[in-house]
Amino acid sequence: MLLTEDAPALTRIDPAFRRDIVEGLSRTPKATPPIWFYDRKGSELFEQITDLPEYYPTRTETALLERHGPDFAAAVGEGRAVVEFGAGSSRKTPHLLRAIAPAAYVPIDISGDFLHTSSAQLASAFPGLPVLPVVGDFNGPLTLPAAIEGLPRLGFFPGSTIGNMEPDAAVDLLRAMRALLGDGAMLLIGMDRIKDRDRLIAAYDDAAGVTAAFNLNLVERINRELEGDLPIDGFAHRARWNDEKARIEMHLEAVRPLHFHVAGQCFQMEAGETIHTESSHKYGARDARLLLRAGGWAPSQEWTDADGLFSLVLAKAG
Ligand code: AVI
Repeated sequence: MLLTEDAPALTRIDPAFRRDIVEGLSRTPKATPPIWFYDRKGSELFEQITDLPEYYPTRTETALLERHGPDFAAAVGEGRAVVEFGAGSSRKTPHLLRAIAPAAYVPIDISGDFLHTSSAQLASAFPGLPVLPVVGDFNGPLTLPAAIEGLPRLGFFPGSTIGNMEPDAAVDLLRAMRALLGDGAMLLIGMDRIKDRDRLIAAYDDAAGVTAAFNLNLVERINRELEGDLPIDGFAHRARWNDEKARIEMHLEAVRPLHFHVAGQCFQMEAGETIHTESSHKYGARDARLLLRAGGWAPSQEWTDADGLFSLVLAKAG
């Protein structure tokens, strides 16, 4: 059953998008927050990324969710409200829901139309389960639906989305989740592991060019929504491993000197200069536990594939 609360009206120019992009392009070095990748086309491209042969995280995490259902059920118990942060297409969620028989499911996502489509699909696959989508940015203040008042909660944050945050922001988010979900809550979180550099780079620079299209879609979005005139052929997709910070970085590199406008402001780039569009931090097992503890969660169990590519960590509100 799909229970939808009133969605905010859609506006064409998002002032937060304009502010983030203008500020990000004014900075040295230029850097923009990754949340702006996810308009409808960006969300669809991301779905395609998750099916790429080089992009191991989604398939590895899905296999862990399929394989360890009975372990989750034993650790979490029945009757919780599952609150999924950044639900997207919710493709992995059915495995968890089937395993733990929750009392309600609350998917949270910034992309409203995408969220409503996937919530409707999920509601028809689980006819007795209240599905209560919340359109919103989980990096900002959120209110959970009144219908889950009093239910114990399980936060679900798959996909290693935590990796897209700087470590200090990741800790802040974990603390905000702890406060939102309340005492007695649990959190099941997916974290991508540090591994072979070539394997990591291939995952973010695939042979079919889907990740490049995902990165370049930001340029198209800026042009379309912020009166931009950035030349699409002036940028190249770059994926780099930053070993010191244990993260893959995606950049848009100027292939020639560029001069362009966004929201009435002029910008210049030298050939070779980049816009840093995303970081994807990778965590060793100890790093992951330390991060969770700093965020107010006590790690209790962990599941990893045989090759140690990806891990799912269960934690209790500390
Ligand atoms: C959503 N997030 C966890 C993805 C990642 O792997 O950092 C986003 C992504 N960027 C390029 N490919 C996938």
